[in-house]
Amino acid sequence: MKILAIETSCDDTCAAVLEDTRILSNVVSSQTDLHKEWGGVVPDIAKRAHQARVMPVIETALKRAKTKIEEIDVIAVTKGPGLAIALSVGVNTAKELAIKYNKKLVGVNHVEGHLLSNLAKNKKGLPGREIAFPAMCLTVSGGHTKIVKVESLKSESLKVGFKYEVVGETLDDAAGEALDKAAKLLGLGYPGGPVIERVAQNGDIKFLDLPHPLADKKILDYSFSGLKTSFYYKIKDWPQEEVANHLADLAATFQNAVFETLIRKFKLAAERYQPKSLMASGGVLANAELRKRLRRMARELELPIYMPAKKILNTDNAGMIGIVGYFMALRKEWSDPETIDRDPRMNFN
Ligand code: KG4
Ligand code: ZN
Repeated sequence: MKILAIETSCDDTCAAVLEDTRILSNVVSSQTDLHKEWGGVVPDIAKRAHQARVMPVIETALKRAKTKIEEIDVIAVTKGPGLAIALSVGVNTAKELAIKYNKKLVGVNHVEGHLLSNLAKNKKGLPGREIAFPAMCLTVSGGHTKIVKVESLKSESLKVGFKYEVVGETLDDAAGEALDKAAKLLGLGYPGGPVIERVAQNGDIKFLDLPHPLADKKILDYSFSGLKTSFYYKIKDWPQEEVANHLADLAATFQNAVFETLIRKFKLAAERYQPKSLMASGGVLANAELRKRLRRMARELELPIYMPAKKILNTDNAGMIGIVGYFMALRKEWSDPETIDRDPRMNFN
């Protein structure tokens, strides 16, 4: 089955072409440069950039996959959650193409895309491994932080796909959002995660004493806003030179506090639910230190862990949307192109 996938939920304009779960092309046009000077994503700027870029990005994806739109079986588009006016651009483009070329259409949940990004295969069908289910999945990006138990439906009746149980999630900020906000406090710019990673490299992780949010062992949820507030109060009266002199230590301390919390709850969830494997995904997984800690955790639990090898599959991309679209198409969960609408607060589950 050939799938054209479109993703415009935030500030990346993305299109991909897949053959089942094999990604033939995965094109991302990042808008970071446009939003940088505002210190975060400006919805109206995102909308206009999506409008200008969506068709060229789709054409590039088709060209790189050596596929004509006539050969596409299904169009998959991110329906939500995300920025309403940004989502609209992708959804409207998908519906116009579906009507014009008479294609089947599926409306995909962005979070499910992040969750299933470890199922992606390259053109040659690699990696060839079979993921062991149930898997406990940590998905951690700028918009979401969730621990989800993912069960394969392979054995259940005729259904194909996955069953999800959210066992923990953030009650306020997402982990990536916390890193972005801390970077802003330190005057490091946007997006914060990658800069913090770079600056933190030689820093002292014990430089400040930061709280452990929701440390109670019974709770699998996250909370990052208190961490950010505490960080703010600790440094708010510092002279600028003092902050500048300890930039590496401050970045390392904050990053460490976020990652320690991420790992502690994820480990707790794995111990409680006894999955057969672990999966992790989302923009923050681009961080080498977090990946190292997750691998160490998996070794301690003696479980296999899957993380997308390519950075593009961690941050927002349309390849992951196409994977979800593939399973929805197998289940014939079609959307009507005449009535499909974006769903900015789309629930998961
Ligand atoms: O998945 P993504 O591209 O978009 C959302 O769905 O949110 O994730 C973006 C988030 C941002 O908060 C960004 O700061 C974070 O991922 N991020 C990183 C790194 N690269 C991106 N965080 C830590 N280390 C990185 N290297
Ligand atoms: Zn995302």
